[in-house]
Amino acid sequence: MMRERGKVSIVGAGPGDPELITLKAIRAIENAEVVLYDYLVNKQLLDYCKEGCEIVYVGKKNRQHTYPQEDINKMLIEYGLAGKKIARLKGGDPFVFGRGAEEILGLKEHDIEFEVIPGITAGVAVPGAAGIPVTLRNVASSVAFFTGHQCANHKTEIYWDKIATGIDTLVFYMGVTQAPRIVRNLMACGKNPETPVAMIRWGTLPEQEVLKGTLGTIVQMMEEHNFKPPAIFIVGEVVAYSEQLSPLINQMAESEIE
Ligand SMILES: C[S@@+](CC[C@H](N)C(=O)[O-])C[C@H]1O[C@@H](n2cnc3c(N)ncnc32)[C@H](O)[C@@H]1O
Repeated sequence: MMRERGKVSIVGAGPGDPELITLKAIRAIENAEVVLYDYLVNKQLLDYCKEGCEIVYVGKKNRQHTYPQEDINKMLIEYGLAGKKIARLKGGDPFVFGRGAEEILGLKEHDIEFEVIPGITAGVAVPGAAGIPVTLRNVASSVAFFTGHQCANHKTEIYWDKIATGIDTLVFYMGVTQAPRIVRNLMACGKNPETPVAMIRWGTLPEQEVLKGTLGTIVQMMEEHNFKPPAIFIVGEVVAYSEQLSPLINQMAESEIE
């Protein structure tokens, strides 16, 4: 008898803290026969896997790709065609700089059932857990998310002249190595060098590090502290207001680098 085709759950595993995941995501992990997970997925979440579940690491760290995306797409298709229930765990939300859509397109081509389980994205949760609200009444009524990295064959552009003055809060994913370029472009397009900024590494986790400065000072501060990825770079007046958001800030203050 031919085995039915499987089902792939494309699961947002949240920003890091293993409690920042949805009930639906946990259920998908518990039911899975195969779990494929990324570098930024908290490994504690694998404790939800049932006995006998095949667990495959397909992470990428910076540019050292453990698995090319095409191979991950192929694996999902192969497991799907073999009739498996698969949980594809991705850091944060699968559709925010997460390549979730590419994986789904491959599944659709092979008529493999899938579902999307949204997750809490780092761009909101990481600043939030450090006491920085991405919007704030009378201070920031707009926020936008960017990738600091753009792959070699990218077909989209960041319009620095428009974002430098047109949006209140700018949140950059993958912005550590590109910070000098981001800062240079924003200042060249009119962003005030005094604008408060924060770099937050391993946000929502015990090893969280927060570096606060201004657009004009942050690059040198990062060099002095040998600041490394993964981090969220947040630019805007909201960073300054975080000081007032006690008691949350009091809990988080310990992680701030002096
Ligand atoms: C490939 S993107 C994936 C984003 C993910 N899909 C999401 O919605 O959060 C990876 C980048 O997200 C950011 N990131 C994810 N988790 C983070 C964390 N716990 N602390 C700081 N930055 C994080 C970093 O900029 C990292 O380089």
